[in-house]
Amino acid sequence: MEVSQLRRLYLDFFIKKCKHTEIGSSPLLPENDPTCLFNTAGMQPLVPYLLGAAHPCGTRLVNSQKCLRTDDLDEVGDDTHHTFFEMLGNWSLGDYFKEEAIKWSYEFLVGKREDGCLELDPRRICVTVYEGDETVERDNKAIQLWQELGFILNSEAKPGDLNRIYPYPAEHNWWKLAETGPCGPDTEIFYYNGDLEDPKFKNNKYAPNDETDVYVEIWNNVFMMYNRESDGSLTELTNKNIDTGMGFERILSFVNGVNNAYQTPLFKPVLDRLRELSSKTEIENSIRIISDHLRASVFIMGDQFGVTPSNTDQGYVLRKLIRRAARHLHKIGVDYMEAVAIADIFIGMYSDHYTELVGKKDLILTELKQEIEQFSLTLDKGCKEFMKIKNELDQKAIQIIPGELAFKLYDTYGFPLEMTEELATENNLSVDSEGFEKAYKAHQDLSRTAAAGRFKGGLADDSEESTKLHTATHLLHQALRDVLGDHVGQKGSNITPERLRFDFNHSEAMTKEQIAQVEEIVNAQIERDLQISCDVMSVDEAKSQGAIGLFEDKYAEKINVYKIGNFSMEICGGPHVQSTKELGHFKIKKEQSCGKGVRRIKAILQ
Ligand code: ALA
Repeated sequence: MEVSQLRRLYLDFFIKKCKHTEIGSSPLLPENDPTCLFNTAGMQPLVPYLLGAAHPCGTRLVNSQKCLRTDDLDEVGDDTHHTFFEMLGNWSLGDYFKEEAIKWSYEFLVGKREDGCLELDPRRICVTVYEGDETVERDNKAIQLWQELGFILNSEAKPGDLNRIYPYPAEHNWWKLAETGPCGPDTEIFYYNGDLEDPKFKNNKYAPNDETDVYVEIWNNVFMMYNRESDGSLTELTNKNIDTGMGFERILSFVNGVNNAYQTPLFKPVLDRLRELSSKTEIENSIRIISDHLRASVFIMGDQFGVTPSNTDQGYVLRKLIRRAARHLHKIGVDYMEAVAIADIFIGMYSDHYTELVGKKDLILTELKQEIEQFSLTLDKGCKEFMKIKNELDQKAIQIIPGELAFKLYDTYGFPLEMTEELATENNLSVDSEGFEKAYKAHQDLSRTAAAGRFKGGLADDSEESTKLHTATHLLHQALRDVLGDHVGQKGSNITPERLRFDFNHSEAMTKEQIAQVEEIVNAQIERDLQISCDVMSVDEAKSQGAIGLFEDKYAEKINVYKIGNFSMEICGGPHVQSTKELGHFKIKKEQSCGKGVRRIKAILQ
């Protein structure tokens, strides 16, 4: 079954049969949410509606959401983990509940093709439910509903009975997006991915979540009926919601009778092409990584809020993906520029549904080409340097690459730490990553320049002029929010001694009046001679005090929050001037579009 065909089947089942309204995918790069870089679940953009706000499209929604997860990068290449993936989801916002959700899910999976269903083999399916704890009892309703569909509670089953219901604790069957917020018990549907004649399968020796992984989770139905408060307590939501998520790539594999998406029409054309081009053996892992990462890169650059490779935030994730793909192309002896042809294949495959890719095609291909060209200048040399390091360590019988050497590969050859770690693993070595962080920090403290790679405020240097412009950027950010509204958030910042450049989300061009108003506000703050102070606090404290800015160091225990008098409070790495009086006069030179929903201001101090 083709990619578009499966997506359409799912959407149509819920639209036609179950009266849902199709909503498009939200952007992959969340708008206005500095706490997370990418959407990781279909429900993420729907949180306000799950908490009770009315959705303009009603109470039954369905879509395929673009998602990206980078926490399992080293698992990419196995059968089930991808960086980018689509999550098929249907939602009830206080409308239908467990009964319909369970019945429809099962019907879609095993119903007949001619009825618009997938016709998967029912023998391969089993489910898990929440076993309960002292606050929320076992999900007997879900158990009963599955029993009505012919499933048997594991504890009551006879040897050889398939289609079992396994009650599991919160670790497996309580779903939450974060420590606080909407959550609830869930029922997960698993698919047996092995041989039906395997005696262990026939004798029920396998179970979901066991170490064999022969049962693969394909669909999660969350009964989202609670909100976790910050003190840890649970309150019931006014609406009892259904939130489901089905892994598109997994279901595509099983519908096509194979174990992984690399053998489906989604990836196969790309993999076959790479197999033909490479004369090396043992390339399977590399070609999987190349195709996975290039597909993800296409979606990051081609998103409504897409970014290009850079040294910060999503741009750095993108850079790492592209560089890793390039390194694997190098490893299997295929021309780097093949990456561009592969990206083009993915754009073609997805453009019918994700139409934003159409208009961004040239940008994606050009940026990809540039990034790879730039990296190819150092990749070969870096690989040689790595082998030199390895040989020297071998001679001394050392198996850990010191942090400073990993940093040298990063700083001189542009090797992200993860790439050095991967190379190390391939050569039976490991990397002192703490030592790398230390070397990285020491270098950053020493040079305080963007050359170190990730200078926080987007400054090109730490000259007096740049520092002034950086403080002016904070004033501008707050003034824009005052004039245009609180939806305005930083999308990018770049500062040279001559000018500041500030990208922010806002859907239309600013009027002359608005521009004048923003200038006026900034200049008024400069006149007020406000003092700049810096407080060190936790991310939670910063959020609760209403600080704005990119929460990019969200894993850091403490972050810096800069206050400009009582006018602005922003998370930032500095540096700043001491008083706004030092800034002179603020002038906006240009206001223009820079991508859909994103505006760019260039401004100077006179
Ligand atoms: N929100 C649930 C998940 O992502 C459906 O698994």
